Amino acid sequence: MSLVVRDARVLTLARAPRPRRGAAVGELSALEIADVFITDDAVSAVGNSLPVPRGTPEVDAGGRVLMPGFVDCHTHACWAGDRLDEWEMRLRGATYQEIQAAGGGIMSTVRAVRAASQDELEENLVRRLDAALRSGTTTIEVKSGYGLSTADELKMLRAIRAAAERWPGTVVPTALLGHALDPDVDPRVFVDRMINETLPAVHGEFPGIPVDAFCESGAWSRDECCRLFERAHELGHPVRVHADQFTSLGMVPAAIHLGARSVDHLEATRSGELAALAASNLFAVMLPCCGFHLDGRYADARGFVDRGGLLCIATNCNPGSAPCSSMPMAIALAVRHGRLTPEEAIGAATINPATLLALHDRGTIDRGQRADLILLRHTDERMLACEFGAGPVDVVIAGGRVTHTHP
Ligand code: NIG
Repeated sequence: MSLVVRDARVLTLARAPRPRRGAAVGELSALEIADVFITDDAVSAVGNSLPVPRGTPEVDAGGRVLMPGFVDCHTHACWAGDRLDEWEMRLRGATYQEIQAAGGGIMSTVRAVRAASQDELEENLVRRLDAALRSGTTTIEVKSGYGLSTADELKMLRAIRAAAERWPGTVVPTALLGHALDPDVDPRVFVDRMINETLPAVHGEFPGIPVDAFCESGAWSRDECCRLFERAHELGHPVRVHADQFTSLGMVPAAIHLGARSVDHLEATRSGELAALAASNLFAVMLPCCGFHLDGRYADARGFVDRGGLLCIATNCNPGSAPCSSMPMAIALAVRHGRLTPEEAIGAATINPATLLALHDRGTIDRGQRADLILLRHTDERMLACEFGAGPVDVVIAGGRVTHTHP
């Protein structure tokens, strides 16, 4: 099976080494007008007026921008139920944390997920994956974390695995074992159980899966997260952490010390700790849809990039703090509120998150790379960040196959 895209402005992102530190994240290595030839699921040539076998299906880009598909590296897209009543409470003035402290928030979704079957979770996730694909996401990370018991975490992870098999893009699962504290269980017993019973069970069925936790007052403490992560490392799992969403609890230096892969959120991080993170080999994952939906607070993406850090942006798609699966929306917000350039936002949505997820075969357009490509409606990539609220993606190609063509 082959396909050629003709006469595109091709953002290859292929000339500088990966991952991209600091402002180098914005080096897009654009080819003014070029063709991309795809054989099976990979790019086999990039160049001008490429000769291809007679009868090869063709997409005429007409000068529009062709770029790598988005890699959304932080989502909670597997859930049941909704949080519409809580959203209305927030519109009337209640905060996310007040709702959480009253037993709602993440725990509302935990109750809905525990009551749902694995099949229901799978169907819900497939619908959300399709929506993400339509807006250009060809690789997506999906966390568990709404089960919070051994059986329910495994149910979520199995649903994520089953949905992944039905989707033309790539799903990377993460075991979010420290997402909240179950109010029905003594906190010490609960944390011990997640570490000593749930983690080994997850390890048995999903060896090597990244392990995550939410370090926040009212959620897991820094010491509890560290205990989980040390055990996860002993079992061979990489770790990631949600830190400083509302409160800075010292998780950033602890994550650097532990050798986590990424620290995600960072809205409340002090500048010294952000500088330390920028100087480390950990990725920062910033989630601007959260600030848009919750409270107008955004992580300092500009400061992090200026200090030479490894930056990713992601949607954080979830029912509570960011009901959004659109990477173009995350980019539009990162540029306005994180003060990134459009080019930096593009690199932080493609090559860097691909590297964070250890998927070195995507995030650039180059010979041998996986053919996960999107053709924008625009001839200038800055429109991706400037325009918002309208789908900017005309054609989606996942694994060499055209999955969506928007008229
Ligand atoms: O990253 N903060 C923790 N987890 C999610 C929110 C999940 C939810 O509200 O259901 C986040 O924002």
